[in-house]
Amino acid sequence: MTSRGRGAKLGLVGSLGRRGALRLGGLSVAAAMTTVGCGARGPATEVAAADVPVGKGLVLHEQGLVVTQPEAGHFEAFDAHCTHAGCQVSEFDERGIVCVCHDSVFSTTDGSVLHGPAKEPLARAQVTTDGDRLVVRA
Ligand code: FES
Repeated sequence: MTSRGRGAKLGLVGSLGRRGALRLGGLSVAAAMTTVGCGARGPATEVAAADVPVGKGLVLHEQGLVVTQPEAGHFEAFDAHCTHAGCQVSEFDERGIVCVCHDSVFSTTDGSVLHGPAKEPLARAQVTTDGDRLVVRA
């Protein structure tokens, strides 16, 4: 987890490759991801639903995607590239999905801008559930 000195930040940062470590608070949680093939929208990545915290989400840096769970059992996915200047979003706090480059914040529910300088929402990606797994694709 990275921090820019905001004490109330409850960020979750997933810096994950195919297998990586996900840091939540002081805990490290192993997270497994699998690229499951190509579809009309590009390759899909599987993640465990349990690895996506309620009210926050998981950034799939390698895939440039972010998957969120704004309410228990409700998953959304977005392009992780900030619409302000293209940095990847990398944190979550009580406001939503945070781009630390210039502190834009996006809704975990619909990707809309909650705090600028970004003016446009995050682009939607696709997420489907397959039992306790999520299939995410651009
Ligand atoms: S690139 Fe995200 S806030 Fe500027």
